[in-house]
Amino acid sequence: MAEPLKIGLAGLGTVGTAVVDLLERGRDKLIARCGRPIEVVAVGARSRSKKRSIDLKKFRWIADPAALAADPAIDVFVEVIGGAGDPARRAVETALAAGKPVVTANKALLARHGHRLAVLAERHQVALNFEASVAGGIPIVKTLRESLNGDAVTRIYGILNGTCNYILSRMERDRLAFADCLREAQRLGYAEADPSFDVEGHDTAQKLAILASLSFGTKIDEAAVFVEGISSITLADLDAAAELGYRVKLLGVAVRTEAGIEQRVHPTMVPKESAIAQVLGVTNAVTVDADGLAPITLVGPGAGGMATASAVVSDLADIARGVRTPPFGRPAARMSAIRRAPMQRHEGGYYIRLLARDRPGSAAAIARRLAQQQISIESIVQRQPAKTQSTAAPGRSGEPVPVILVTYATTEDAVRKALVAVRRDRVISGRPQVIRIEKN
Ligand SMILES: NC(=O)c1ccc[n+]([C@@H]2O[C@H](COP(=O)([O-])OP(=O)(O)OC[C@H]3O[C@@H](n4cnc5c(N)ncnc54)[C@H](OP(=O)(O)O)[C@@H]3O)[C@@H](O)[C@H]2O)c1
Repeated sequence: MAEPLKIGLAGLGTVGTAVVDLLERGRDKLIARCGRPIEVVAVGARSRSKKRSIDLKKFRWIADPAALAADPAIDVFVEVIGGAGDPARRAVETALAAGKPVVTANKALLARHGHRLAVLAERHQVALNFEASVAGGIPIVKTLRESLNGDAVTRIYGILNGTCNYILSRMERDRLAFADCLREAQRLGYAEADPSFDVEGHDTAQKLAILASLSFGTKIDEAAVFVEGISSITLADLDAAAELGYRVKLLGVAVRTEAGIEQRVHPTMVPKESAIAQVLGVTNAVTVDADGLAPITLVGPGAGGMATASAVVSDLADIARGVRTPPFGRPAARMSAIRRAPMQRHEGGYYIRLLARDRPGSAAAIARRLAQQQISIESIVQRQPAKTQSTAAPGRSGEPVPVILVTYATTEDAVRKALVAVRRDRVISGRPQVIRIEKN
């Protein structure tokens, strides 16, 4: 049998221990597929004495990730530490510079330094594989990098954060408030103690930046992603969405427009019958639209040790077989700087929920401000104020009246300007809620 592929594994947390486990359990299958065994020979983490689910005695211990990456006894370096900075960055650079292929699950590192690392990998003619960095067990990186070569991707969008999808699904199904669902997600281990990275959309933004680069051949630009999270979403929004034929999802969307590439993360109303609307709980999904091809949707587990390890092992199998493709699907030198479409020029339908003050002329003033920005209204619903339901006609109680508007396609700029004017007119109380609508 051919020589084993020898792995140095930095990081023995959720993903690292699952990688060790999966390589051991899948050993025979991997030999059959790759023609050689894949063996972990050296490992490292912060603490050597920490209790772990794997037997460390079988491996050499090299605590310093960069020293592990440079170790002459390893053929491939696997980085599952995390974080955009050191030690992950220095270790990955060390491995690539030493001519060793790298497999990483680190979205933060790729979103920040992906292009530079791709250049380094190419210079040293080694693989840089990162299937696990986006949507865990869903093979979306490979799909974009290796399968859709002849097709021009026009749009890619997805549910890329299981925590947010869990919260929104649970709010809708069980009529719970955002804060209650978040607490539950934390109790179940789906959300971090500090959940803001997930619920404010930053985790999705890093993954989207990677997908956009693979889709459009542009250099990764995390800073070009517009980001808005789900913490302001209320049950009233989810109810209104259901009545209007939509569901609310936190989507990452990258789309080619005349103004450039738009990259945005925000709560989004998607048609209830769309494939992406059916994805509930912690599950992830990605839809790819390409010229001349009906949309492709991949659905599956977006996180968790085994799902993520499956992606890491798949990347290792490619290396064991001698497969090497440019990290972002084309030579790094052919990747262009992203022409960033400003968010103000985003075009689409909008859901707007306002609390109109109970005074004559409020509705007319709102309508006038929207008309001034050439915004056409597809539907408008005025609700009874919560406290006076069934006792008084809308607008007769002194309470602000909830008004829900859905617009035809307009621009972000027009909506923002109209709402600034509406607030200046003092005809509404509080901040308007705005949710963008994404059509299939
Ligand atoms: N968990 C998931 O479901 C998932 C899904 C997709 C992608 N990812 C990505 O996979 C990577 C790892 O995630 P994880 O969930 O496995 O994280 P984790 O459970 O927190 O494990 C991190 C590991 O890195 C080690 N480490 C931290 N700082 C170190 C340092 N300075 N030097 C050496 N080792 C260090 C830790 O050592 P100790 O054990 O000694 O503390 C630990 O073993 C991240 O990039 C993450 O974004 C995770």
